[in-house]
Amino acid sequence: MPKPVRIAASILAADFARLGEEVARVEPHLDLLHIDVMDGHFVPNISLGLPVIRSLRKVTGLDFDCHLMVTNPGYMVYPLQEAGADSITVHLEAVPNPHPIEARARQAGLGFGLVINPATPYRTLDPFLELCDLVLVMSVVPGFGGQSFMAEVLSKVEAARSAIDRRGLKVDIEIDGGIGPATIGSARAAGANVFVAGTAIFRQPDPIQAISNLRKAAEGGSN
Ligand code: DX5
Ligand code: ZN
Repeated sequence: MPKPVRIAASILAADFARLGEEVARVEPHLDLLHIDVMDGHFVPNISLGLPVIRSLRKVTGLDFDCHLMVTNPGYMVYPLQEAGADSITVHLEAVPNPHPIEARARQAGLGFGLVINPATPYRTLDPFLELCDLVLVMSVVPGFGGQSFMAEVLSKVEAARSAIDRRGLKVDIEIDGGIGPATIGSARAAGANVFVAGTAIFRQPDPIQAISNLRKAAEGGSN
């Protein structure tokens, strides 16, 4: 039985001056809010941090899926939990031994996931599947929204899906970067079930219709 499709809107593509309104508009149509935290070091960009997350927590009941593109995510675990995060995902390129941060996330009551960049092979992730609620396969080089989907990462989604099923795990597979109606079906077919979309939601004339189009296109990908 394939896991149901879940759509995570990435606020990186929203209008930050009207963030509360932008989120409120799409909230009833979404499964998750994807929050990209960057440090200008792990990636060459800075996005947002704790004060914005804290403010958003007051205006939405959506689960916050915090994608940490930072070199030292460990020190952020408790502050993120206090700010209102529900789960964190951490890059294996930043934290090659994820056991301590996973333990800290669990202590803080947060969901935990690991992320791999397009250049990182699936075998880097495989030993840690049992630690994760979710694994995130990047389908662009992280740091910026609006990039083109890299179809070559789909083989990693397939490898993760078959290992998760073979090992009887319940780990979600998320994909992030360049997801839109033209690419979501192939990611679904490869075995992903959580889809991050920024540009394809917030930069569309009708974000609600855009979410519905994404769901339809994902279901077209079956699996
Ligand atoms: C990129 C971020 C993504 C980004 C996706 O570093 O991790 O979450 O917002 O943006 P789109 O959907 O525009 O590719
Ligand atoms: Zn992201």
